Amino acid sequence: MKNFLVIGNPISHSLSPKLHNYWIKVHNINAIYEKRKLVESDLKNLIAEVKLNKIVGINITVPFKKSIVPLVDELSESANKTQSVNTIYKKNEKIIGDNTDIGGFEKALKHVGYNVSNKKVFILGAGGVSASIIYSLEKMGVKNISLSNRTKEKALELKKMFPSINIVNWGDHIDFDMIINATSLGLNKTDRIELNFNDNYKNKLFYDIIYNPSKTKFLTTAETKGSDIENGKLMFIYQAQLAFEIWHGVKPKIDTETIKFLND
Ligand code: ATR
Repeated sequence: MKNFLVIGNPISHSLSPKLHNYWIKVHNINAIYEKRKLVESDLKNLIAEVKLNKIVGINITVPFKKSIVPLVDELSESANKTQSVNTIYKKNEKIIGDNTDIGGFEKALKHVGYNVSNKKVFILGAGGVSASIIYSLEKMGVKNISLSNRTKEKALELKKMFPSINIVNWGDHIDFDMIINATSLGLNKTDRIELNFNDNYKNKLFYDIIYNPSKTKFLTTAETKGSDIENGKLMFIYQAQLAFEIWHGVKPKIDTETIKFLND
């Protein structure tokens, strides 16, 4: 029996075990995928478990995507460019840190038929997932990216990695075609993002990386005002599909049945 794991803190909201165990069953694989809540000082021992084959693969979620970076032996090109790891596996006795958030975001946008070339994108947040989104958008040929974060220093750190992004003060207005909430605001039902868009909602796409709850206040407000909205569910499913393929060598199907199964 092969053991797989998602780690994070908090971790109870994660749907990764449900999705991976569903695909494991569909493909008749002798494996189990579990979740584990831990603290940063546990990460070293966790990697040791992979070295000893006690764990075959790990998904990393908030807030460890960065702190795991120095603990792996090698980074994939995308993990290196973003300094963010969400998938771990062992290859030739080396622990590899990879990033499937980038591909997951790209595939999610393709799935809904949204083309970012010639689009102005405004990202809110400079946490773990923002670098992956920027990298993905640049790869897809976005027109330009502006980014705003409550703590400006963290936005400026991202600008060092991606010099072409434009940093906007938290609370300032800019014009955009697509806005992405990459902050953790919205995870709690009462959270609201204190930004006033001046009724600038028409012909815009409001995208929230959060998928649980499925409609944050950010999305419900935008929907009421006439914007298109999308949550992070598809990005989540596609990053999982890419990780599954890395670990098991098969690409699980993503169809309406899979998406419905996750919603139930
Ligand atoms: P980490 O920063 O550890 O990677 P994260 O959950 O990936 O954690 O990122 C949290 C993001 O949500 C950050 O951009 C954070 O802004 P700060 O850098 O200023 O902390 C943002 N965030 C969280 N709570 C917020 C709030 N109440 N108002 C505005 N932004 C908030």
